[in-house]
Formats: sequence, C-alpha cells, structure tokens
Amino acid sequence: MSRTFSLMLAGLVLCTSQAMADTLKIGVIGAGKVGGTLGTLWVKAGHSVMFSSRHPEALADLVKEAGPNARAGSVTEAAAWGDVIVLSVPYGAMPALSEQLKGKLDGKVIFSTSNPFGGRDADVGRKALDMGVALADQQYLLIYVPINAFDIAVSLTN
Ligand SMILES: NC(=O)c1ccc[n+]([C@@H]2O[C@H](COP(=O)([O-])OP(=O)(O)OC[C@H]3O[C@@H](n4cnc5c(N)ncnc54)[C@H](OP(=O)(O)O)[C@@H]3O)[C@@H](O)[C@H]2O)c1
Repeated sequence: MSRTFSLMLAGLVLCTSQAMADTLKIGVIGAGKVGGTLGTLWVKAGHSVMFSSRHPEALADLVKEAGPNARAGSVTEAAAWGDVIVLSVPYGAMPALSEQLKGKLDGKVIFSTSNPFGGRDADVGRKALDMGVALADQQYLLIYVPINAFDIAVSLTN
C-alpha cells in the first residue's frame, strides 16, 4: 500500500470523526509538507488546529491559508493545547522531542506520520528500523502507544 494512500486514509479517519464527535483540538508538531497539509484539511473539516514549529513566526502564511480555526505556537504550546497530537517530523528529531515533551502528553491521543529512513535519520533511523517503528515510538514517547498512520492502513487491510 503506498504511503500517500496510507496518509490519505489516516486523514480520513480524523476527518470522519467530526461526524461522530465534537470537533477536535489538534496540535500538529512538525508543520511541514505532511503536517501542514493534514492540518489544513482538518481545519477545513471544522476542527481547530495549532500548527507548531521551532520557529512559529514562520507559520503565518500556513495559518492564514488554513482558515480561522488555525493558529501557530511553539512545540510545547501545541502539545499542551491539543487533545489530539500529530507528530510529523523527520524521525531523527525523535530523541530531542522525547526529552522536550516528557510528561506533557498525558491523556492525549498521539497520531504519528513520522517514519525512519536509515540515510536521512542516521543512527536514530537505523535503530528504529532494526527495532521496529512501533517499539521505537513507544520508547521515545514513553508510556504511549502512538497511532501510526501506516499501522492504521495495515490493520484495516488485515
Ligand atoms: N512527505 C511524504 O510524502 C511523507 C509520506 C509519509 C511519511 N512521511 C514522514 O512524515 C514526517 C514528516 O515528513 P514531511 O515530508 O512533512 O517533512 P518536512 O516537510 O521536512 O517537515 C518536517 C517538519 O518537522 C519539523 N522539525 C524538524 N525537526 C524538529 C524538531 N527537532 N522538533 C520539532 N520539529 C521539528 C520542521 O519544522 P521546523 O523546522 O519549522 O521546526 C519541519 O516543518 C517524516 O518522518 C516523513 O518521513 C512523509
């Protein structure tokens, strides 16, 4: 199954939830190609989204384009604000994020698009590939069993 299809499916899961529940507050950590696109779709579907970055001032155009229910903040602000947290960063950032977010994600639903590549993500990526991404995610996010976009797609096809 292609990655693009997997991400579309994962996006659909959160978009569909609007029909079943109140709107969600979604904190997006890593507002790049994937996080920026998914967050914009979720705003347009009626959810409230805080896009975050290490440089939140650079997110003004994205926030404007997404719509009135979008805002920008720091990584820790998005983690504190969202009920659902979407991680969409290069996997090599996971050790630093793990430290930064320690104790800040209690009670939240974690949804991750982040996947490792041995080249781009160097040792962190290679270790995660050896260990298995689900286990590596749990190690970095401590008590959490994050929902990985690809796991959703795989479980729906089994
Ligand atoms: N692109 C795809 O088609 C695709 C498909 C499936 C999965 N993925 C996976 O999804 C993840 C995101 O991919 P992408 O293409 O959206 O990447 P991207 O466009 O490079 O965006 C990644 C974002 O992560 C943020 N970031 C980097 N290091 C960080 C750190 N230490 N702390 C906080 N934020 C950090 C960057 O934001 P700032 O620099 O502004 O802080 C950047 O906007 C990756 O793991 C990728 O492998 C991508």
